[in-house]
Amino acid sequence: LHCFSKGEDGFLYCEGVRVQDVMEAVERSPFYLYSKDQITRNFEAYKEALKGLRSVVGYAIKANNNLKILEHLKDLGCGAVLVSGNELRLALRAGFDPARCIFNGNGKLLEDLVLAAEKGVFVNVDSEFDLENIVTAARVVGKRVPVLLRINPDVDPQVHPYVATGNKTSKFGIRNEKLQWFLDAVKTHSSEINLVGVHCHLGSTITKVDIFRDAAILMVNFIDQIRAQGFQLEYLNIGGGLGIDYHHTGAVLPTPMDLINTVRELVLSRDLTLIIEPGRSLIANTCCLVNRVTGVKTNGTKNFIVIDGSMAELIRPSLYGAYQHIELVSPPLADAKVSTYDVVGPVCESADFLGKDRELPTPAKGAGLVVHDAGAYCMSMASTYNLKMRPPEYWVDTGSVVKIRHGETLEDFVKLFDGL
Ligand code: LLP
Repeated sequence: LHCFSKGEDGFLYCEGVRVQDVMEAVERSPFYLYSKDQITRNFEAYKEALKGLRSVVGYAIKANNNLKILEHLKDLGCGAVLVSGNELRLALRAGFDPARCIFNGNGKLLEDLVLAAEKGVFVNVDSEFDLENIVTAARVVGKRVPVLLRINPDVDPQVHPYVATGNKTSKFGIRNEKLQWFLDAVKTHSSEINLVGVHCHLGSTITKVDIFRDAAILMVNFIDQIRAQGFQLEYLNIGGGLGIDYHHTGAVLPTPMDLINTVRELVLSRDLTLIIEPGRSLIANTCCLVNRVTGVKTNGTKNFIVIDGSMAELIRPSLYGAYQHIELVSPPLADAKVSTYDVVGPVCESADFLGKDRELPTPAKGAGLVVHDAGAYCMSMASTYNLKMRPPEYWVDTGSVVKIRHGETLEDFVKLFDGL
């Protein structure tokens, strides 16, 4: 059962709570509304799939960095995947076990690598200069850093070019023609770094598990080659990237079980520990952005529903042309006719849309309208463009609505100028 569903009364519910009632109870819109139980269920699906394997699930915290959500995932036994020093600091504050943390990125800073080295998190080597910095960080703290080589396997993930990362011309990772150089460098610096595995991340929103299998086959070949040179590799990290059903068409998409089952035999055959780095598939479907309709207008042949949410709170449609499902939270008025609408915000540019050409009943002013699957890469990518302050967040926890982040205010903004 999914956390957001229509009740028999025609209202939208989140885990038994009417979204309309939440709108009336909270102080402002738009706001993000999550289901805590759905987060738990999504994590359990990975745990279930990984039974019988040694594994680490590292949640890619860039997808959603709400501290309460991080603490919850940590309590469930999840690790964390980090791409900046501040993500590392936040993960440590949330209490993640450093031995279940992986520090990724093509531009990691020396000061952040020093912190990573001190705490003992896994570090993915992305380039020659990155390796040099990791060695320096290890010397600074006097500890040997466990590293994985991020290999760019040149597998096409068949997704939007902005979220494809494992093609040979992408800025991430190292190409196989340089592999020997890196292995020699690791040998030279064996007192500073300990090569424990290999990593790849192909891209995001992947909907075919064969793509993961193709990459895992290539990666296991690399592992064989590297082991043949005397390295004791333990970890295969296949990154994140599993897509979700944004279109709500009921299409059968691969589950975590399908994903893990396509690589299970390979992992067992080499006696490896599998690391996976899911972001979207853990958190996207646990949340809606809840908005109020400001009004409805028509220009020529185009109809618009104008809402109080915008590209500032949720930029994926504007940035990637991404589809996120939209619906009204209450049943339509008896005389409401269905038309084709663009759902737009108040931000002063035409890129500001949440949905295009959606068939919707004409909403009343003030009606609630949700954008679904807003848990991943929505709040974490929100901006304050047009001084739209970042919205508050709530989750439904065993039937009660609990605030899990304050909304930003103009006061917060003005404070940045205090004393200047
Ligand atoms: N591991 C690495 C190294 C990554 O770069 C990413 C995401 C992940 C794991 C998690 O991938 P996921 O399971 O969430 O697909 N802002 C875009 C998505 C960018 C993904 C960046 N890397 C969007 O809104 O679609």
